[in-house]
Amino acid sequence: MAVHILKNNIFVLETKNTHYVLGIDKYGYNRHIHWGKKCYLKDYEATDIWDENSNHTRLDMAKQEYTTFGGTMYRESDLKVVFSDKCREIELEFEGATEDGNQLTVILKDKVYPLQIALKYKVNDNDDIITRWAEITNTGTEKIQLDRVFSAELTLPSQYPYKIKNTNGSWGGEYVETESELQGGALSFDSKRGTTGHNQSPYFIAHHNADEKKGDVYFATLAYSGSFKVLCTRDLFYTTRVSLGLNDHDFKHELLGGETFKTPMVFCGYTVGFGEMSRQMNRFAINHVLPKQFNNKILPVLYNSWEATEFDVNCKHQTALAKLASKMGVELFVMDDGWFGGRNHDRAGLGDWFVNKKKFPKGIDELINNVNKLGMDFGLWFEPEMVNPDSDLFREHPDWAYHYDTRTAHTLRHQLVLNMTREDVQEYIFECMDKMLTDHNIKYIKWDMNRPLSETGAENLACPQELWYRHTQAVYSIVDRLKEKHPTVAIESCSSGGGRSDYGALLHFDQVWPSDNTSSVDRMMMQKWFTYLRPTKVMRAWVTDVNWYNPPMSLDFRFHVAMQGALGIGGNLTNYSLSDLACAKKNIELYKEIRHLVQFGDLYRVLDPDCDEILFNVYVSEDKKEAVGFISSYVTRFMKKQISFKFEGLDDDTIYKLKIGDTKYEKSGAYLKNVGIPLTIRGMGYNKIIKIKAK
Ligand code: DGJ
Repeated sequence: MAVHILKNNIFVLETKNTHYVLGIDKYGYNRHIHWGKKCYLKDYEATDIWDENSNHTRLDMAKQEYTTFGGTMYRESDLKVVFSDKCREIELEFEGATEDGNQLTVILKDKVYPLQIALKYKVNDNDDIITRWAEITNTGTEKIQLDRVFSAELTLPSQYPYKIKNTNGSWGGEYVETESELQGGALSFDSKRGTTGHNQSPYFIAHHNADEKKGDVYFATLAYSGSFKVLCTRDLFYTTRVSLGLNDHDFKHELLGGETFKTPMVFCGYTVGFGEMSRQMNRFAINHVLPKQFNNKILPVLYNSWEATEFDVNCKHQTALAKLASKMGVELFVMDDGWFGGRNHDRAGLGDWFVNKKKFPKGIDELINNVNKLGMDFGLWFEPEMVNPDSDLFREHPDWAYHYDTRTAHTLRHQLVLNMTREDVQEYIFECMDKMLTDHNIKYIKWDMNRPLSETGAENLACPQELWYRHTQAVYSIVDRLKEKHPTVAIESCSSGGGRSDYGALLHFDQVWPSDNTSSVDRMMMQKWFTYLRPTKVMRAWVTDVNWYNPPMSLDFRFHVAMQGALGIGGNLTNYSLSDLACAKKNIELYKEIRHLVQFGDLYRVLDPDCDEILFNVYVSEDKKEAVGFISSYVTRFMKKQISFKFEGLDDDTIYKLKIGDTKYEKSGAYLKNVGIPLTIRGMGYNKIIKIKAK
């Protein structure tokens, strides 16, 4: 795939199936020209069809790649600045464009002030995903204040009102999908919490009447884990635009002479149907986003002790759990909260990242050795950005938490947020975690974050509103430093469940905790929404003993739902009966046979539990030689019992073998796709896994 720089200052990003076209027109404005199916390169131009009058201005109408504040432009802008003489207008001219393999850089600069904007674009060989970001440089010596700096603006091609998907989630109810038709005005999705949060998502999915297989789908996701904004507008000319970037609600950034501000990246694409969108983003994330240590590796089956023991951890009980876990086939044993400082409950201890001597009188190595001897790796929980007022850290450094002397620093879950913009705080966190990783055989960390920021006083900063951005960058930087020094350690992003499961996190963390709600019934939908834009392999999915007000489901059913992600077990194994343990063992064995398909295959959502009552997901290997189908139904009504399950994603001409009960089938892909396999679905909690292999 390629970047084409055409003679008339038209730039074409060619992806596998699409063209994304931008250019500079005769007025020097940056213009968006096309995003969608491929056309002849020679036809592209920045047409001049505008009818400026006293109300409708040329700049106002323009479909632009990056809109700056000022002039007769009354739309939203992507960049707002204050120059040293207090001028707030930006007037750009085109400086040049360069192409470097699959990357395009378009340079714009202010006509008077030392401000340069580099619009950056990147394409890949095998997909339709474009990476965009902007680099804003102060080429002078006087400071320039940034008041808003978005990463990218995207113009949707059609005049009709798009339906725009986002989420309206909450703790325990993450990723709940919303869809709003944007007829006029604005739709805004954001977080003002300093984290991504559980509520709205830093992405948009726009379509007209698309479904899994058909219809134009435009989407973009922001790679950022802090306060974000996704601003969708439809103007009087029926043009729909979406800008994504850092939230500007309490934002400023001082750009000193010679400095460049690089915005977070946006990954955007156009596909036909939602299914193709998910498959492209899945593969793109694995190949181009996830940290390289683990992106191509199968994630191990883990056990996490949180729901079994909460804060009451000790060597004896954890070892008892570990023995049972290893018998089942678990590969990674994780001790969650409670192992450090005075952490006997959630009111104390955060910040004191030293092993609790009362709980582990012989040190933590006794437990780690036990776990290792059982053939499993060991993992540990941290919540690095936090401090309990009842902790040695806070007693020694009360000024290390965000605060104003004149205001109450509100605790949530009895904890305050550390001022991560301070270098001494960053060093303290890095050193504590580094020491644990250096001194002990730890192969995995769960990095938790259980409350949003508040009372964000940060006296150390000359420009206090920079703290939102700097906090997030500090998290990324500590994670990156730890990974560099300890490359065999995998790190999971958790934030009270799925509060930090965005693409910014995916650039640094290896996996994600999607939700504290582990009820298999709720997870059936949450997993669909999670994997809409995110890769399946990062989605940790535990089998637990709770049902969160849903009907109780069999252990088999719970396994089958969790086996559609990176399988984990979180129940209290000491309460498991012999038949439960056998059921768990059988399913873990099966998972190990099929997890390469789940974690790396192409997902086809054939039946949706929300509208079809039955979930039928098929994961197909890239070479189409293998597949696995999951059927789960938590309820069947109206005698809906005979269904032909039609597989998708298979190769028409390949003969596949499969076995259901005692019945063996040898059928072509065409048959399995068009005729399907009949099954009788009856009763609550029906579930089945069907393995398919080319003959
Ligand atoms: C919130 C996480 O989402 C849980 O999985 C668990 O780690 C607790 N924190 C521990 O305090």
